[in-house]
Amino acid sequence: MSHLSADKVSVSFAGLKALSGVDLTVAPGQIVGLIGPNGAGKTTLVNVLTGFQSASEGAVLLEGQPLSGLKPHEVRRAGIARTFQGGRLFRDLPVIDNLEVTGVGLGQSRAAAIAEAEEMLDWVGIGPLAGRIAGALPYTDERRVAIGRALMGRPKFLLLDEPAAGMSAQEAAELSALIRRIATEMGCGVLLIEHNVGLVLGLCDHIVVLDSGAVIESGPPDAIRASEKVRHAYMGSAADIDLPVLEVEA
Ligand SMILES: Nc1ncnc2c1ncn2[C@@H]1O[C@H](COP(=O)(O)OP(=O)(O)O)[C@@H](O)[C@H]1O
Ligand SMILES: [Mg+2]
Repeated sequence: MSHLSADKVSVSFAGLKALSGVDLTVAPGQIVGLIGPNGAGKTTLVNVLTGFQSASEGAVLLEGQPLSGLKPHEVRRAGIARTFQGGRLFRDLPVIDNLEVTGVGLGQSRAAAIAEAEEMLDWVGIGPLAGRIAGALPYTDERRVAIGRALMGRPKFLLLDEPAAGMSAQEAAELSALIRRIATEMGCGVLLIEHNVGLVLGLCDHIVVLDSGAVIESGPPDAIRASEKVRHAYMGSAADIDLPVLEVEA
């Protein structure tokens, strides 16, 4: 029961059903992919799992305990961390302060937060950038700052919302390697939302596919590759998905 789960989660926004009875489970050390066309409900599910959005129906369970009613910072303290689509760093602050502030927010002393921040920046591969202003970094480095910040306090689960958006193939491969280390070396369970279907198929143990707020398929990469339902969902959507990757690998 050491898992993070969404149990039949539904969310409605003024008549629009953004999520309908979604089940999803992440185990410690596992990398689960969450894919689906734009507007499928991926970010809404991350918001529900992290306390930024309450579910209209259903529940979020951490290690078997419901998290209902917890505020985002309480969910974070319980061990569920996230990054945001678009980063949301403190852009005017040095990189190290971005991590330190989170450590202090988690209850660490200032000295302990700085020590962990330094260690974490090295661990995610940007130690030399500690003193740089966060908002002036190239976005590939900004993403590492966001991930390092999310890893402060060693969360049990990490939810990444489109961390590879706009990256080259080389940059995405380096990010994949980092995500794998987070799962294997930290034992952190990872939920990866990503438009780059090739990256998800190559990295994840298990993949959940959302379309119009409902799970249309879930399983290991081979099952997702072979799924007609998944292909169909992507064919019907806007042309911003990585269908060529899907076709090459099918
Ligand atoms: N706060 C909100 N208020 C109203 N509608 C929203 C809100 N957040 C998301 N939606 C709608 O819910 C659906 C799912 O959005 P989202 O979870 O952002 O999808 P994805 O991340 O898969 O692109 C979309 O139709 C979106 O417009
Ligand atoms: Mg989104």
